[in-house]
Order: sequence, then structure tokens, then C-alpha cells
Amino acid sequence: MRTETPPVVRLADYRPSDYLIDRVELDVRLHPTETRVTATLALRPNPAGIPGAPLVLDGDDLVLLAISLDGGETAPGAVAVTPRALTLHQPPQRPFVLAIETKLDPTANTKLMGLYRSNGVYCTQCEADGFRRITYFLDRPDVLAVYTTRIEADRDEAPVLLGNGNPVESGSAGGNRHYAVWHDPHPKPAYLFALVGGRLGRVASRFTTMEGREVEIAVWVEPGKEGRAGYALDAVARSMAWDERAFGRAYDLDVFNVVAVSDFNMGAMENKGLNIFNDKYVLASPDTATDADYANIEAIIAHEYFHNWSGNRVTCRDWFQLCLKEGLTVFRDQEFSSDERSRPVHRIAEVRTLRARQFPEDAGPLAHPVRPQAYREINNFYTATVYEKGAEIVRMLRTLLGAEVFRRGMDRYFAACDGTAATVEDFLAAFTAESGRDLADFARWYAQAGTPTVAVEARHDGNAATYTLTFRQSLPAIATEATGGARPLPLVIPVALGLVAADGAAVEVRSDRVRDGVFVLDREEDSLVLAGLTTAPVPSLFRGFSAPVKVVQDLGDADRLVLLARDADPFNRWQAAQSLAMAVLTGRAAGRETGASGAALAGALAAFLEAGALADPAFAALVLALPSETEIAQEIGRDVDPDAIRAAREGLRAEIGTALAPRLDALRAALAEPAGTPFSPDAASAGRRALRNAALDLLAAADPARGAALAAAQVEEASNMTDRVAALAVLVPLTGETRERGFARFGAAYRDEPLVLDKWFALQATIPEPGTPERLRGLMRHEAFSLANPNRVRSLLGSFSLNNPTQFHRPDGAGYDLVAEVVLALDGTNPQVAARLLTAFGTWRMVEAGRRRQAERVLRSIAARPGLSPDVSDIAARSLG
Ligand code: PHE
Ligand code: ZN
Repeated sequence: MRTETPPVVRLADYRPSDYLIDRVELDVRLHPTETRVTATLALRPNPAGIPGAPLVLDGDDLVLLAISLDGGETAPGAVAVTPRALTLHQPPQRPFVLAIETKLDPTANTKLMGLYRSNGVYCTQCEADGFRRITYFLDRPDVLAVYTTRIEADRDEAPVLLGNGNPVESGSAGGNRHYAVWHDPHPKPAYLFALVGGRLGRVASRFTTMEGREVEIAVWVEPGKEGRAGYALDAVARSMAWDERAFGRAYDLDVFNVVAVSDFNMGAMENKGLNIFNDKYVLASPDTATDADYANIEAIIAHEYFHNWSGNRVTCRDWFQLCLKEGLTVFRDQEFSSDERSRPVHRIAEVRTLRARQFPEDAGPLAHPVRPQAYREINNFYTATVYEKGAEIVRMLRTLLGAEVFRRGMDRYFAACDGTAATVEDFLAAFTAESGRDLADFARWYAQAGTPTVAVEARHDGNAATYTLTFRQSLPAIATEATGGARPLPLVIPVALGLVAADGAAVEVRSDRVRDGVFVLDREEDSLVLAGLTTAPVPSLFRGFSAPVKVVQDLGDADRLVLLARDADPFNRWQAAQSLAMAVLTGRAAGRETGASGAALAGALAAFLEAGALADPAFAALVLALPSETEIAQEIGRDVDPDAIRAAREGLRAEIGTALAPRLDALRAALAEPAGTPFSPDAASAGRRALRNAALDLLAAADPARGAALAAAQVEEASNMTDRVAALAVLVPLTGETRERGFARFGAAYRDEPLVLDKWFALQATIPEPGTPERLRGLMRHEAFSLANPNRVRSLLGSFSLNNPTQFHRPDGAGYDLVAEVVLALDGTNPQVAARLLTAFGTWRMVEAGRRRQAERVLRSIAARPGLSPDVSDIAARSLG
């Protein structure tokens, strides 16, 4: 029997609900295996719906215990109930009240959707459609209700009881039971509902909003871990202050709670007033967290907090509009991190993520528009495209309109749509109203999938003293269910640009088609003629990565070296180094020797370090980093041989390390912290650590034996987790006793720290050796590993499939087999995590024919499995489609 793919849901079929729910009273009596929920729903017919239509409430795995209508019994035959739906055939055509009692088992809930237990703590996850696993409901984002929640539990088991909104009342419920009542005055869709009950420790502070509201902020963690919650708590306060400054948005409840749980399918969730987090994005101490962890915590705390306006006060009409809250909120958290840290460094990090994750997605069978036209399983659309490319669209909008008009547009959007479930059209309408600009063509960014390519040709005319840049955009034609398959139309592409003279001086850009340094390419081909240029300048295009496109530009090495050394735009300085390296790497991977260019790159990096790397160490560390194997594969695009890519990259790394060795040693010495310096996670300190570790990495490539000794010593002696993990990462490719000892000692030292062991799992998963799949099978039997915990699965198998291309894409298929095995083992218990893992196969069409056959064999065997979850069958079917 073949699994049926789930039915398709289309944007074009959207219809308002036939009924609305104004108020919800929930009474939840927590019990490990028999929790009882009574939902009292104040319903009424929707004036925009079909009069007299049956009321169909969503359910998932529910057991109905009782139902009443307006306080009385329902007539025989009036109600039909299955685990997936409750239908009232002839609902009253006036306001009415339904009371529904259901029974659930939080302990048996391994999907981590709905109400479940994590390390004994009761918690909920309702986005996108988990509320229907708690009670029968109109579980759709355009049904907004005011919730009052009474939570009752055993005092010992759950002394802390948290809900959405503000606390109203608490007390004894008889015997050993107690209760708390929470009321959320802001109407919200069910996906923002949450409750928590458990033994939790707390750190807290206060924040006074610009409106004068006194807010109590608390971060709740496993008792004993309070000492690791301070950074997250501080990040909440900084996020509140920033959203007031940058967007004029104030918090709107008296309490703001953040709870960390250890079993969580995603990063975190923006439930109203009660954000629930994967503990990985809350807990941090110098001994357990890296600089990257601190940066992620800050960014995700900000992200979830910012959702309070972009997501909660203004929510989505339907799930096709997911980017309306996610793309916008990623843009907002990126801006926050840029303001709190270094803007250029953060921008480079954003672009690296986009290129490493979103570009491959957009180039493979899972490609979809930022606003898909159809889906079968919405949980599979929380993607890099919706989040990261969605953020790039908002960024382009700001570039096109200018910061001031953009801000006014945002104000108008929040004012116009507050308290409603909105669409991308509503969002764009606010900017059209504020700017007077027609954004209909710009809106194509939301509808068309695939990464555009912009080819640029430059021509200098010495006699006329003109310099002409001709831009040509080409768009991949992608036809899938999610894309709708229409022929792509030209996009509106902001090209931020500048000109640099050969000696590095800035050259004035003279054209009335360039405003505030931005040229807008809005047709297939266009030429920009710049006057007053007797000598040819070096063009610096797409400054700050002004559009999510691939740029094909025939720029010589000499010009790139000018940009690397002199461009006023730091992003393009970094990009110049990347482009130089990429040319060498793709050439060598294809068997073309580009020895001269390799030496030129090494020379340029030497000059770059000479010119003062210590002025901005974080930036210097990024310049020294070569494009990843994934990025190189992406650039090559087809018939990719991961082994050839790795060989080329390792060769170049060794070459650069050798050429720079004395300078790298000097840098390491200059950046060494005096013993006893207290750890600080701030961006400047993190930057120094990053550069020092980038130097170690290159030194190890040049001289593996010395590198192994240096790294092993650093693993032992480091005074913080950043340096310790960086050194462990250096050991990864250095086969031998030293590496094994380093990993063994690290594993023993942190045996009781799951979040630290995740780093240990993740690094071992990237060992580029044939023995790695067997090693991972062994690690899956490690006492700290569990398939039930998503973080463990991601660190071991996710890391393997995404960050170990030579072994995942092994010619013998053993890498694919391992991941497939885990996907199938997980599918029965946690289909969301299983499906996410399977998306690693999304690049299979890019690899060379032998590997492609292996990948296809494995994908087909998964797709043919009977009884697959909708999540996994959707990814398998689309990957093969
Ligand atoms: N809405 C969450 C965020 O981006 C992500 C999420 C989706 C979490 C679905 C859980 C389930 O902030
Ligand atoms: Zn989000």
C-alpha cells in the first residue's frame, strides 16, 4: 500500500469561517496521563460566512467526554464526533455557547504539538495547528478570541502555573491541588495560546514602557539553572527598549514570561505574553555557551518579543501569509542585532545563512515562493525561504522607499491592521499609501520562486567619458504545486552601488537614475549610463547585498583586489575576497589549475591583515573564511562532486595558511587574553575570539601536526566554551590519536550537560571520513542521546546531513541510508522533526549521476513506505517531483 499524500490546500480557495468565536474559557486540569479540558466557547455566525452552514470544529487525536449547547443537552443526531472533527449540523443562527470536555494524555504526546510534557514540565505548542490537539476548535488564524484560562494541577508536580495575558487569581483547589487563572484581553488566534505547569526556577526584572506601563519580565528555567538565564533576561529588556525606539512599539501586558523547555520542535514560540523556548536559546554561561549561542539567544529572544506586534497584535489571515509575520519579524530581529552589535558583520552573517540555506532550497525540488500558492502540510513551510528570503523582501522595500517612508509605512500598517488577521496585500497597501508608489510589480517577489540571476556588463567609453553598466535579470521558471507554475515576470531589484578608483578613492556616481546610491532594475534588461568618467572605475554593485540575487559580473582579479582593499562598503570588501576564492575553488574542483589566482588571493589576504585586521577582528575573521563546501556546490550547480570540492577547498586553505603563517601566529599572540580576564559575550570580545580561532584554523590547515597540538592544548586550557569548541572543530579533520583523545575528554567532562554534548555530537557528525556513519550509529547509543529529543537529533543527524557533504553524499549511498533510517524511525513519534531532517535530500538533483541514483533510490524507498505521516510523505513526494 502506498501512503496517500495529504490533500492540497490552496490560497485561491480561502473563505472566511462561517462562525466566529468571541470568547474562550478554558479549564485545564493537568494530569500526567489524563488531563481534562473543558472549553466554553462563545460562538456566533460570521456575517461574512454562509448562513446556516454546519459548524465544523477541528480536532486531532481528541477524546470527547461531554458536550453541551447553551447549557443544555444537544439533540440526538445534532452532533457528529470523530477524533479529527466535531460537527454541529444545525447551529443556532444567533450567538450561542458550546461547552466541550475532552481528555488527553500529555505524557504520550511525542509529537510535541498540543499539550505535552518535557522533563516533567507541562507545556504547549499550538502553531500552526496544535490547539486542535487540546480541544475541538476553529483552529485557523483568522478566528480571534479573548481567552480566560484556569489551570489546575498538583502542587508538588506543578507549583508554577503560567498562561497567556495577566494573572488574575490563584488558590487552593482542594487536597493537594491548586489553580491559577490567567486572562488575556487581546483577541488572538488559537495558535498563540499557551500554558505551562511545572517545577521551574525564575529570574526576573522590571521594565517601564514608554507608555508608563510597569512590566514584570521573568525567565523560567529548570531549577538550578537560574544562573544561566541572566543573558536572556537582559535581552528581553533590550528588545523592549529597541522596539520602542526603532518602531514605536510598546509592550501591552503587565507580565512577560519566557519559559525554557528541553524538548521543542523549533527554536521558540511567540505565544501571547508567554513565550516558550527551546532551552538552547535561553541558557548561557561562559562555561557552556559559545559566542554564537549568545548571539542566537539575543536574536531569538528579540524575534519572539517582536512578534508581539508583528504576528500577535497583527496576525495572519491564513497560513499562506506566514511570511507576513515571519519575514517581517526576522527583518526586525536582524535590525536589532545590527544595532546591538556590528552592522556590517551581522549583514555578512545574514547573507551567509541565506546562501547556505535559502539559495539551495530555492534551487531544488522544495523551492516555493515566499508566499506559497498551495501546501499539503503547513508545518513543512517554516522554511528558509519564508523566513530569510521573506526578510530580504522587507529589507528591499526599505531600500526602495528610504528609511523614513518605510518607518511611516510600518506605523500605518500597525495602526490599520491592529487586532486583525492580515494579508501581504494589507502590508503593501500601507506602504503604497505612505509613498504613493505602485508596488504591484514589487509584489512579484512574494509570488515567484527561485533565486534571480543578474548579469552585469560594463563598458567604458573614454571619448565620451561614459561608463555604462548593463544589467540583465533572469528568473528560473519553476513549476510546482506551491509555485503555481506561471511564467516568471521581471522583478523590481534595488541595486545599491558605488564606484571606486583604482587607487581606492570614491568616485562620484552621476546619474539621475541613481538615488541615494540605489539604481532600480525593474525590467529584464536595462543600461545605466554614468557620465564624467574619463578613466574606467571599479564598480561596487549590490552593496550591503541589496537584493537576494546571484550576481554574474565579469570583474577581473585586479578589480576585486581593489574592492577588497578599498571599497567603502564593508560587505563588498568581504564579497570581493569570497569571489576571488570562489573562482579558484570552482576552477580547481573542475580540474582547472588556477595556481596564480590562489597565490594572488593569499597575497591579498596578507595585505589585508597587514593593513590592520585588529581594527575590526570580527570582520577580519569573516574575510579569512573561505566559502563553505555547500556554497561552492551551489555555485557549480550541477553534477557536483563533493569530494572534488572538499579537496579544492582544503588545498586552498593549506596554501593560504602556509602563506600567512607568520602573520597568523602574530595575530594569535596579539589577540590572546591575559590570564584571568573575565569572560564577556559582547560583540567586540567575540570578534577577537573569532579572529584568533580563524587563525588557528588556517595554521592547522598548513601544518596539521602542529595544528593538532595547538588545538588539543586549547581544548584543555580554554577559559570559555567558545575557544574550547573552536579548538575541537579544528581537530575534526585531523585524523588520529590527538583528535580522539580530545573528543573523549570533552565528552567525559560534559557528560551531564546535554546542550554542550550537542556541540560534541554535531562536530563528530562533520568528520569527513568514511567511518563517520558508523561512528554516528555508535553515538546514537550514547546514554545522552535520544531520538525523542529534537536537539539531539538535529545535532547528530541534522549536522551530518547539512554540514558533512562528502559523507552525506557518499558515492555508496551509506550517508543517505543512515539519514533515511532515522527519518523512518522518527516518523512514528515526531513527524515534524522527521520531515525536517528529510529536507536535506533537497539538493539531490545537483550531485553527479552516481550519487543521484543513490539518493533517488533512498527517496523512493521512503516514499513507498506504508503509513507515512503527512509531513514526511509531503517532503518525499515533493523532493521526487
Ligand atoms: N513562530 C515561531 C517563530 O518563528 C516558530 C514556530 C513555528 C515554533 C511552529 C513552533 C512551531 O518565532
Ligand atoms: Zn517567528
